[in-house]
Formats: sequence, C-alpha cells, structure tokens
Amino acid sequence: MTSAIREAFPVLGRAGFHYLDSAAMAQTPGRVVEVVAAHDLAARANVHRGLHEMARLADDAYDAAREAVAGFLGAGADEVVFTGGCTLALNIAARALAGRLGPGDTVAVSRLEHHSSCLPWLALAAERGFELRWLAVTADGRLDPAGLSVIDRRCKVVAVTHASNVTGAVTDIPLVAGVAHAAGAVLVVDGAQMAPHGKVDPRALGADFYAFSGHKTYGPTGVGVLWGRREVLAELPPALFGGGMVGEVSDTGFTWAEPPRRFEAGTPPVAQAVGLAAALDWMAGLDWPAVRARLALLTRRMLDGLTALPGVGIVGPGEMEARLPVVSFTVAGCHPHDLSHLLAGRGVAVRGGHHCAQPLMRVLGLDEGCVRASLAAYSDAADVEALLDGVAAAIAVLR
Ligand SMILES: Cc1ncc(COP(=O)(O)O)c(C=O)c1O
Repeated sequence: MTSAIREAFPVLGRAGFHYLDSAAMAQTPGRVVEVVAAHDLAARANVHRGLHEMARLADDAYDAAREAVAGFLGAGADEVVFTGGCTLALNIAARALAGRLGPGDTVAVSRLEHHSSCLPWLALAAERGFELRWLAVTADGRLDPAGLSVIDRRCKVVAVTHASNVTGAVTDIPLVAGVAHAAGAVLVVDGAQMAPHGKVDPRALGADFYAFSGHKTYGPTGVGVLWGRREVLAELPPALFGGGMVGEVSDTGFTWAEPPRRFEAGTPPVAQAVGLAAALDWMAGLDWPAVRARLALLTRRMLDGLTALPGVGIVGPGEMEARLPVVSFTVAGCHPHDLSHLLAGRGVAVRGGHHCAQPLMRVLGLDEGCVRASLAAYSDAADVEALLDGVAAAIAVLR
C-alpha cells in the first residue's frame, strides 16, 4: 500500500531521497499541483467581487473548497475562515479576542506551543495588560494535567496545541476543554500537526477555535484554516481590515460582513484553497486505520533504533500511546545542526534546531535544540532505516 501512496508524490521517486521532515511541510500529490494550475489557468479571478464568467467560476471553486474543509472538520462552511497559514489563523483568533482581555485577566498557554501559538498572546499581554500563564509539561514532553490548575475564573483564553511539533505528544483536548469552559474561558487549539493525520472534529473535541496549515496537510503553501465555533465567531469583531470583510462603509465607520468573510480581509488564497480541498480529497481516499498502524510500527522502530545508538536521548514520550509519528532526539556531544547536515549529505531530510518552540526547549533543558524526524502517510521502512544508518554514521564521525 505504501508504494501506491508514494506514487501520488512524484518527488518521492528520486533515488536516495528520504524525506523525514513532513512535520515542517508535507510533500504534495502531483494531482494537487495540477488542480491548482488548472484553477489558475481557467478561473483566475478575485472572489465575491466580480460578475464576469471567470469571477463566477472562482466563486464556485472557492465556495466548494470551503465546503470541503467544512466536511474535513465536520463543521458548517460558515465556520471555516481561509487564511494565509496556521500562524495567520492563530493571530486572527488572538486579535479578534483581544478586546475581551485586559488587566486582571489571564491567558493560559502551554509550554508545548509552537511560537505561532504563544507569541500572539505574549505580544497581546504586553499591549493589553493581562497576565500570561504557562501550562506545565511533563519531563517526557506532554501537557501536564496537574498544571491545568492555573486556569481559574480570571482566565479568559486557553491556547494549546493538539499535538506537539517537537515531542509528537497528542494533547487531551476534551480534558483541557472541560477545564477551560468550567472557568468560562475560550479554547484555541493549534491543529497544525494533528490535521495531517486524518479528519478532526473540533466541535466534538470541545474547541472554540481550531487552526491548521495547508502545507502540512499535503496541500499548497500560503493557505491555512481557522475554524471558529459559529456562536463565538458571531460575537467577535474582525481582526484585519480591508476589502471583503465589510458591509457598508461611511466617512465615519463601517459595518462588518457576517462570518466567515468578516475574518477574510483582502484577496484570499483562492487557488491555494482549491488546492487544499484537492489535498483533503486525496487524504479522504486513504485507509487511515491502516496508515496509522503502519506509521506506528515505523515510529516504534525509530524510537527503538535510535535508543540503541550511543549517546542518543529521545525528546518526548517513549511509548506509542497518544503520540504522532514525530520523533525528536539529541546525541550527546553532537550539535543538532551538525547531525542534520551530515544526514542531509546522505539524502536524509530532517530538521535540527529549536523548532520554533523555545519555551519548550528551555524547560526541557535543550539549549542547542534537537533533531526531529517526522513521518507522513507516504513514509516507508527504507526512510526509517536510512535515518538510523545515517545517525549511526554521523555519531561515528562526530563523537
Ligand atoms: C504546531 C505548529 N503550529 C503552527 C505552525 C505554523 O504553521 P504555518 O507555517 O502554517 O504558519 C507550525 C509549523 O511548523 C507548527 O508545527
């Protein structure tokens, strides 16, 4: 089955190429590239503005893409906001909620967060005068349930990742949602790492906002999604201003369009949204239980193979429960960048550094960061063996 999946990705046919950086960006099926090109060649127009033929085609394609994302999330199309990426989605959520926050309030973010999910709140805390509280993580890089006790009645927003881009740990979102909602707080979930691993249902999880990226979900770059619970979106002001998000404009003010367009100022990523829909359609054709079972075996092999090498320490859970096929590690005496560089020389693509997660690196005591190998539906045993051979060879050189 892997080879049938791999055939959809022309780049994976390159001899000696082992792509283990899917948590940064998944490769995209050739079909998705064709759909984007076909859209731009036949229906390239702005949306919800023109009445000519191209404009109508673009409107239809963009609306259909929104429906496709809604289907992926088990949501209504009116709850799906297209953005330029997950970072922009999380910033829009923060900006839209900013007016509710001030001195005396708190916002809780976890130490697992990618900078995209904590910096918008850190920046707003300085601007609006509320207190930022950090939710603790366990030594193996999971959200620590005991740390949720800092969420009290003063807490207005809780921001957590559904799955860590470093440790691969999957957060118990229903647990966090229960605590957040009992305190009266809004829950913003960063789904960038989880969405590539099959359908998610943010409403059922208890989220109020859920964000993910197109480019990690086998789709184009330059597109992301902010899902917002209908009742929450309806009450919030826009975060960005410009064409498309207004009703009437006078010399002294303007009215807001209804969600989701209220949150889509300017020309949206039309062709990219259409491409994302094609990517989600490709994902829908996979046998996810089989894909997950295969990736779990490969992850186990990575964890065991790496642990057997001298000086290797795993960053994140050692067990398979509630974790993604994302494995980060350190090698005593080897800088992550040197290791990544040597692996690149063998055609093995991994990521080394702090992974845009410096608060987590600090609390785990990883001053120099770590190396991350991450799998996607197309990853196979040869990729994992190439990684293990490469790390063993690098250790022999560097230590
Ligand atoms: C957990 C997590 N959140 C957010 C982002 C940012 O996503 P984007 O590149 O779409 O802005 C990333 C990207 O690495 C991520 O891993």
